[in-house]
Amino acid sequence: MIELEHVGIAIEDAPSTLAVIGNILGEAPYKSEPVSEEGVRTHFIRTGGAKLELLEALNSDSPIAKFIRKRGPGLHHLAFEVDDIHTTRDRFVQAGFSILGDAPRRGADGKIVFFVHPRDTGGVLFEFCRQDRSVLENSSVETRHDSLPVRRAGRPDNPQVLVVDSGVVDIELLARRLEQSSYVLVLRDEVILDGANILDALGLGRVHVAATPRVLTNLDLPSARRLSSIVFVDAEVDGFPDDHDILIAAAPPYAAAAAHLWSSVRDADLVVGDDELIALAAEKHIRRVDAR
Ligand code: CO
Repeated sequence: MIELEHVGIAIEDAPSTLAVIGNILGEAPYKSEPVSEEGVRTHFIRTGGAKLELLEALNSDSPIAKFIRKRGPGLHHLAFEVDDIHTTRDRFVQAGFSILGDAPRRGADGKIVFFVHPRDTGGVLFEFCRQDRSVLENSSVETRHDSLPVRRAGRPDNPQVLVVDSGVVDIELLARRLEQSSYVLVLRDEVILDGANILDALGLGRVHVAATPRVLTNLDLPSARRLSSIVFVDAEVDGFPDDHDILIAAAPPYAAAAAHLWSSVRDADLVVGDDELIALAAEKHIRRVDAR
């Protein structure tokens, strides 16, 4: 069941328009939030069921500024809430609709969103959204010995990232950073001691790993050779370290994914090469981080 979540309205003179609409509805915006990637500030007003999203351009390149230049202020889009944003998007792609953007992305008011081009929908811009709950879904895999809790995010056809959670880093934040470009699987660090078995139980061939150095030193390098990319997260840091030692190492098939990952993780080193080079870079990195 698809429900109308909000109505988007492009506004030109924000203070006076907000005052007028606020008066009409007897309700002030409960939240004003910039979405800097879109060059807009959003203002949300409750109206009972669906809410209003008033969109103010923050610069002349903003899609809202362009919309207003072309069509004037007014109705901009209709937004519908769906259960599974990725499945919904795939369904529209398969049905031949033009979708704006590469993947569902973070919108305002805690939503993950994507848009369908108005040329395919009778001139109306449709947004589909879902509440951005934890990006990690709980599931489990059966190993030879027991049932293993696993948390997953992203799409299974993306490059795999195995994140070993030692409780030191913010796994939600890390998963949010990675889920657009990767299929993220999170394990608690105690299980990695069973290294290769775990990778087999998860059905992973070549994977990326994100873990603290402490955890990764538990992985012997022969099993690390099955890892196409390794992200080191400094164990000393509380939260995701933006400016600490992180190595992203990838085999050529994953070079683009690694470069993408690298671009979203500031101050990380990027190594692309064969297994030998990756193993060498990993060894050097472990030594260097452990030496601190
Ligand atoms: Co919207």
